[in-house]
Amino acid sequence: MSQGERQPLHPASPAEDPPVRSSRVRHAPDAYFLRCWNPRDYTFDNYRRIDDRPYGGGPGMVMLAEPLLRCLADLRGTRAREGRPPLPVIYLSPQGQHFSQSRAQRLAASPGAILLCGRYEAIDQRFLDAEVDEEISMGDFVVSGGELPAMLLLDAVVRLLPGVLNHGESAEQDSFADGAPAQRLLDCPHYTRPEVLPPGLVGDVDPAVPAVLLSGNHRDIDQWRHARALEATCAKRPDLLVDLGS
Ligand SMILES: C[S@@+](CC[C@H](N)C(=O)[O-])C[C@H]1O[C@@H](n2cnc3c(N)ncnc32)[C@H](O)[C@@H]1O
Repeated sequence: MSQGERQPLHPASPAEDPPVRSSRVRHAPDAYFLRCWNPRDYTFDNYRRIDDRPYGGGPGMVMLAEPLLRCLADLRGTRAREGRPPLPVIYLSPQGQHFSQSRAQRLAASPGAILLCGRYEAIDQRFLDAEVDEEISMGDFVVSGGELPAMLLLDAVVRLLPGVLNHGESAEQDSFADGAPAQRLLDCPHYTRPEVLPPGLVGDVDPAVPAVLLSGNHRDIDQWRHARALEATCAKRPDLLVDLGS
């Protein structure tokens, strides 16, 4: 995955039709370049085997280091021949640092990354020790492969690239959008038409859009949004506010 190289998205195996293509990011095919590499293409046996039993016994299979090393060498060689800069290897792993909006912002500002998606029980540790620069986790749970975590990461990063969203500012308004502690708030509530919903449709909830949003006074609207964002953060994620005093 790399930014700003003005080449189209070319999804291929193993994520033949990745979910990123059905989201907003498909509207900016020139903004980024995604190429998928399959370690099975770097095996020499008839079964195109990329895993084997673990030394020491135990359940599950372990991804072989050698097909991964050949795959990575080919990837790096191809990029070098195309005049593209070297990229860090990020392993999607439940053992990594939790992914965050600020990590997405730093990735969006970088030339890109090689995303390593695991399968089975593990990847041979020698490959990880030799080649991985960083591990990123999508949370304290385990899914069966790194592809969905990679797609999540991609969607979060690509929507921050210039030209992907209709209104660039909408990404700036998102929850967590600014990494500065005092700005790390959840998004405020949003409303759209009609101004008043038909009676009875939303039970006890006020059917009218808050009047300030219809006032046209942008200073009042900004103040109202900031206050609601603070309220939402206090109510749902007070942990985000602990840094406010520093
Ligand atoms: C079944 S998991 C292996 C989990 C491994 N045995 C462990 O406990 O650390 C297979 C692959 O899914 C991916 N994966 C699973 N959970 C993940 C998470 N929370 N975040 C990122 N990647 C994850 C990783 O690429 C991992 O190599």
